[in-house]
Amino acid sequence: MINKRLGVNIDHVATIRNARGEIYPEPLKAALIAEQSGADSITIHLREDKRHIKESDLKAIKKKIKIPLNLEMAPTREMLKIAKKYKPDYVCIVPEKRKELTTEGGLNLYSQKNLLRKIIISLKKNKIRVSLFVEPKIFDITTSKILGADAVEIHTGKYCNLFNKRKRSQSEFLKIKKSAAYAVKIGMEAHAGHGLNYKSAYTISKIKYISELNIGHFIISDSLFVGLKSSIKKFKNIIKS
Ligand code: PXP
Repeated sequence: MINKRLGVNIDHVATIRNARGEIYPEPLKAALIAEQSGADSITIHLREDKRHIKESDLKAIKKKIKIPLNLEMAPTREMLKIAKKYKPDYVCIVPEKRKELTTEGGLNLYSQKNLLRKIIISLKKNKIRVSLFVEPKIFDITTSKILGADAVEIHTGKYCNLFNKRKRSQSEFLKIKKSAAYAVKIGMEAHAGHGLNYKSAYTISKIKYISELNIGHFIISDSLFVGLKSSIKKFKNIIKS
């Protein structure tokens, strides 16, 4: 069993700040508390519309935290330039649509393969670990390997939706498990994320091939009631193998 890492996504601290155009709550403060509470990495998504995290947050967080920083970004030349400037430890490439509330699914790897390949090569030259956010499909896992990714982050959103509504989620769970097993078999790390809460993180953490979970919205939401430190500690305990 691989010891699972917890990446804490703090985007929604910035969402609250930006809702009032204020300077608080500060994402940097959340990143530092997450670090002290046992987070293995900090994840931020710098969207092209900068609706939550801003470039100034990226700069401040990268400067102050000691654990790895995982930057989620769309596969564009502008974002590549920003990644090369701030050199996060990890980049997770995600699809982005302007009107979506959150990332709605994995990348369309095939239609963007030339651009993705160039971006991956460039990031790796800068010693940045690259993961691709993908659907739990064997084709996407194979393509990620061919494109040169170090890891795949498997989209758990569909599974979580079914699981939360107490609908049949077993076949979606099996897709995630098979995809993770295959990713590890062909030499990549398998990560997972999107929509996870305490219960779904527990079930997903039973997949031995998955080495990292990235969790955001639920942690920030539950922090309103239990505090950021408690929520992170609870997740760390839940995903412990
Ligand atoms: N992983 C990826 C690639 C994401 O885009 C997101 C959302 O920003 C997450 C994980 C975290 O999802 P959630 O906020 O639903 O926990």
